[in-house]
Amino acid sequence: MVDAERNIFVIFGGTGDLARRKLIPALYNLITFHDISSECVLLGVASRDLDDDDYRVLTRDALRDAGNSDAALEAWCEENVFYQRLGRGFGSFEELSTRIESIETDQSFPGNRIFYMALPPALFPTTVVGLGEAGLNESSGWTRLVIEKPIGNDLESAIELNALVHDYFDESQVYRIDHYLGKETVQNLLAFRFSNPMFESVWNRDRVESVEITVAEELGIGSRAGYYESAGVIRDMVQNHLTQVLALVAMEPPISFAAEQIRNEKVKVIEAIAPIRRESVVFGQYESGSIDGVDVPGYQEEDGVDEDSHTATFVGIELRIDTWRWQGVPFFLRTGKRLPKRLTEIAVTFQRPPLCIIHGRRDSCAVEPNILLITLQPNEGFALRFNVKAPGDSVELDSQALRFSHDDVYGRLADAYETLILDVMEGDQTLFVRSDEVEASWRIYDPLLDYRPEPHRYEAGTWGPGAADRDLKLGETPWTVVT
Ligand code: BG6
Repeated sequence: MVDAERNIFVIFGGTGDLARRKLIPALYNLITFHDISSECVLLGVASRDLDDDDYRVLTRDALRDAGNSDAALEAWCEENVFYQRLGRGFGSFEELSTRIESIETDQSFPGNRIFYMALPPALFPTTVVGLGEAGLNESSGWTRLVIEKPIGNDLESAIELNALVHDYFDESQVYRIDHYLGKETVQNLLAFRFSNPMFESVWNRDRVESVEITVAEELGIGSRAGYYESAGVIRDMVQNHLTQVLALVAMEPPISFAAEQIRNEKVKVIEAIAPIRRESVVFGQYESGSIDGVDVPGYQEEDGVDEDSHTATFVGIELRIDTWRWQGVPFFLRTGKRLPKRLTEIAVTFQRPPLCIIHGRRDSCAVEPNILLITLQPNEGFALRFNVKAPGDSVELDSQALRFSHDDVYGRLADAYETLILDVMEGDQTLFVRSDEVEASWRIYDPLLDYRPEPHRYEAGTWGPGAADRDLKLGETPWTVVT
């Protein structure tokens, strides 16, 4: 049982895809695994003309689709799920306010409210203003606002949105979600770095050769062409997820595990990223191909995509971090859709010994670098590659790994949304992105948003355009480790 404090969980976009696929199942898992059934009711808000019963059916179906079939599900929906239609105009927010108060009175709730914006970004501003003007930005308990990415479309719009939010909500009420921060192994990175001094002492330019962060997806853009055509890979994945992971890898140790201390260190390291040179960026776009034996169309053939589209679905970036710790160490970020498999991995490659005394064929150095692989998904865990002597008379080296697999040791992993929603209920902002972090991150990528060269084509089901490896001079990479 956790201390979630009795609250009403309001989802704007309550009938949408995110609510059905992620939020409702995550909320229900919290109820099942953390025993908060009496702590929280769900109020779906959307423009569709539904009543409570319709929304209970939608909720039940969403839970069944997510694989929940327990007996308590029907009763939970019946007692804890409500719906409020939100029309256009300010009056609707006043009606919403009245409805929330009436549910709270019926349930004897103290006025703790979570407003989750699972909405298209274009609707964020009017919703924030509507909430604020209707007085829903404060209550007799606490009020928290959850915003899904994208936070703005570029630096200017992010600054505007943050300012608008701050007109009505204090930063301590705002929870900007980057669902990568909810992934167990991403959080484990902090534990790994700051509780194992053995690694912390080599986590710097004296010992690290390079760092690579790879987010590979098998999926294409699905039915999201409308969004993806204008977003592209930098806005969709790099400015947020990859940069957040980078910040956790590269940040300095905070003075405590308190949310603000961690977020202060993340901002500092994001601000220290040097301007990215265009020559250090390779864009790609998938062509038709085959993944797991299934033929898939190319990006330009996807429904809703312009047949001459230059939108990139892959990018490789080399960047530098101008701090004492990381001066001169290349950081490579790589992400793409329609790659051979789903894989999110951080590879920290350590330097070889200063003098090589074990040689292979033609006198080349036989010593491979140590590599620490941190796999965020799908097989969460760590692996440290090191050299051993292969059996036999002569001294020949072989690479082996020390491994930790989360699954083998701990079993079920909480879904990222479960972790994050629970944190919102508990008022812990550690895993949420502060306004200055968002802006610092846009500041890095803003200059790349207008840079839309013809992307290199890569066949779906391959590891992206060869140019990424060639032009970025990746050398020993997780690419070669994983493939
Ligand atoms: C989303 C992007 O934020 O993250 C999607 O918009 C992407 O394009 C998804 O597919 C990847 O998330 P995950 O958790 O499946 O790695």
